[in-house]
Amino acid sequence: MTHALVIGGTRFIGRHTVEEFLAHDYDVTIFNRGNHDNPFADDERVDHVQGDRTDDMDLQTASLAAKPDVVVDCVAYKPAEVERAVEVFSDVDAYVYISSGDAYGREEIPKREGETPMRPCTPDQAEDDSGETYGNRKAEGDRVVFEAAESGVNAMSVRPCIVYGPHDYTERMDYWLNRVENYDRIVVPGDGQNVWHRAYVEDVASALRVVAEEGEAGEVYNVGDRRLVTLEEMLDLAADAMDTDVDVVHAGERELAVGGLDTSKFVLYRDYPHVLDTNKLASLGWESTSLETAMARTVEEHRESERDGAEYDPGREAEERVLGVLDTL
Ligand SMILES: NC(=O)c1ccc[n+]([C@@H]2O[C@H](COP(=O)([O-])OP(=O)(O)OC[C@H]3O[C@@H](n4cnc5c(N)ncnc54)[C@H](OP(=O)(O)O)[C@@H]3O)[C@@H](O)[C@H]2O)c1
Repeated sequence: MTHALVIGGTRFIGRHTVEEFLAHDYDVTIFNRGNHDNPFADDERVDHVQGDRTDDMDLQTASLAAKPDVVVDCVAYKPAEVERAVEVFSDVDAYVYISSGDAYGREEIPKREGETPMRPCTPDQAEDDSGETYGNRKAEGDRVVFEAAESGVNAMSVRPCIVYGPHDYTERMDYWLNRVENYDRIVVPGDGQNVWHRAYVEDVASALRVVAEEGEAGEVYNVGDRRLVTLEEMLDLAADAMDTDVDVVHAGERELAVGGLDTSKFVLYRDYPHVLDTNKLASLGWESTSLETAMARTVEEHRESERDGAEYDPGREAEERVLGVLDTL
């Protein structure tokens, strides 16, 4: 039996990763601080080591307790954390670091591993905690993986774009699902053709396993839905999954301004398309769930949850004002 250690493992991507490895007959240990409920508390195939990954002793203890063949690192947000992990896990069969599509430093379509430049990272950025330097820190983590591989560590990196699916605590998709479920007409910024590549969470989990099993040390693999949909098509998929209809109303900058809004107020909207090339991952045998199935599972769990994405709500009243203006045109 092969043993996987998931650093993190109880919330979203890590939680699905545990399920993915269990489904492929691995024993799994999760390593986290125990601040969040453990969905695997009653599953005897999953051991829990409590500790903080930023504490060297705790990381070492997790390594000794689990003796992992494979390590998936869901909680490395600073390059120093990746540095420490590739030291502690220098002799595993695979150490897989979760990077991010935000590690790319140039807008181009699509963004390709090894071709599209990565963001730089200054020493100050490497130690920063703000969201502004997230992509810089993730890129530097990738460079740590590359260096470790050069000195013989079986370290690899997976770069997901925006992840969605059951148990997504970011609630980004929940905002739009809530809108589709509760309103007949919803405002979509721009012309609805905006593309921000998303990755269904079960496919991210399977990517992490496939890369651990088949990936090459020192390589990075993008992960995202094989077929991309625009924001409007995403809402159509959601409406189909909910067995409802929704009237999507496009609003440009001028119309949005009537409600005191602009495109930046809408989650999952981005001006320039963000698209990751997923061919390298697919060449390892990875496959992506159909968008219909992914959305159906996402909607089902959204309805069971209490998440509504309210923190992203630009305000229904403001939206109504925009709709009112569009009606008069
Ligand atoms: N969501 C996206 O769209 C997206 C896109 C690209 C990349 N990513 C990457 O995906 C990863 C996050 O995945 P996730 O949050 O869904 O993973 P997860 O493993 O399901 O949840 C986070 C886990 O980390 C644990 N944790 C947090 N801080 C810790 C610490 N200092 N020491 C030990 N454990 C700690 C949490 O438990 P405790 O709090 O109990 O410790 C929890 O188990 C990150 O690396 C992020 O950069 C996400």
